[in-house]
Amino acid sequence: MAFPNGVLLSSHELLDAQAHVWNHIFNFINSMSLKCALQLSIPDIIHKHGKPITFSQLIDILSINKLKSPSIYRLMRILTHSKFFVKVKIAGSVEEGYWLTPASRLLLRNDPLSVAPFALAMLDPILVDPWHDVSEWFQNDSPTPFVNTHGRAFWELAGDEPRMNQFFNEGMASDARLVSGVLVRDCKNVFEGLKSMVDVGGGTGTVAKIIGDAFPGLKCVVLDLPHVVDGLEGSENLTFVGGDMFESIPSADSVFMKWILHDWSDEECVKILKNCKEAIPNKENGGKVIIVDIIVNDEKEDHEIVETQLFYDMLMMTLLTGRERTEKEWAKLFSDSGFTSYKITHILGVRSLIQVFP
Ligand SMILES: C[S@@+](CC[C@H](N)C(=O)[O-])C[C@H]1O[C@@H](n2cnc3c(N)ncnc32)[C@H](O)[C@@H]1O
Repeated sequence: MAFPNGVLLSSHELLDAQAHVWNHIFNFINSMSLKCALQLSIPDIIHKHGKPITFSQLIDILSINKLKSPSIYRLMRILTHSKFFVKVKIAGSVEEGYWLTPASRLLLRNDPLSVAPFALAMLDPILVDPWHDVSEWFQNDSPTPFVNTHGRAFWELAGDEPRMNQFFNEGMASDARLVSGVLVRDCKNVFEGLKSMVDVGGGTGTVAKIIGDAFPGLKCVVLDLPHVVDGLEGSENLTFVGGDMFESIPSADSVFMKWILHDWSDEECVKILKNCKEAIPNKENGGKVIIVDIIVNDEKEDHEIVETQLFYDMLMMTLLTGRERTEKEWAKLFSDSGFTSYKITHILGVRSLIQVFP
């Protein structure tokens, strides 16, 4: 078979190409099916049941219009295909039941490692709508597709819309719980010996609380925008400061920044990093900046990890002025901000931990 431009394709290649295009057209159905299952609390219902749940047991418990039950079968079928549920034989019965997988265990609402608030935040219409405006943004003067859609920058809208402020902060806190657990377990040496740390853009203080509890001698300050930290209560070794990291950062032995620099352009990152350098002692006196962010490695074998990193890069382009960076791009940011060396620890899956020294 030949295209008008003369390219010859076998029928097999032609139909494979069509399937590839269709798969990409409908990729959003994976996200939206997941969101629906979360909103209906399906992972929690299965978990509470304590053993594999049959379709009819699931329907009995679900709070839905029962006339729509056959459609739940279809929702469960796609989510089983995408490995959020498995179908297993029920002991002593001919029936099969749905059971959780490691991925859906992360979606349980009350589990300390739950990523459910993060999923619901990222799939909220406020964050999804700007995707419809990306091509228009390429052609106009708007700083981001988000501004194109909402008329205000991301952090401005978060400050003006209490619902967005809440779902975004809860989403961040859920990710922070999971990451802090790994940091405390596997990266002790990064925090040992530090007397003070300021978590810049530290949200509602989840990382600071967990790290502060694990290292009792460490005093933590959380710096974030006033609408995020106003009214939050600290403790003996935790203080909240409402402020702007572009203006100044409180002094400490170390600065911690998780998911901050990827929100910003190179010029903005250099300003933040220079303020970090002002806030910490020199290298001989133990000053350092600890960063948790993605290092893009598109030569990595793992297709899913690289694709996820590239999703984040597009997300930063659409919502904010930021981007995901390769190691070379990170190194340039550090030297442009006056830092002399850095050390990468690949311990956080899609993300890495980077220690940067003055
Ligand atoms: C992507 S969130 C990361 C939150 C937290 N570090 C985490 O990973 O869970 C970015 C944070 O930066 C904060 N932020 C944005 N602009 C800021 C500024 N100018 N000064 C201080 N914090 C800021 C936001 O309010 C938000 O809490």
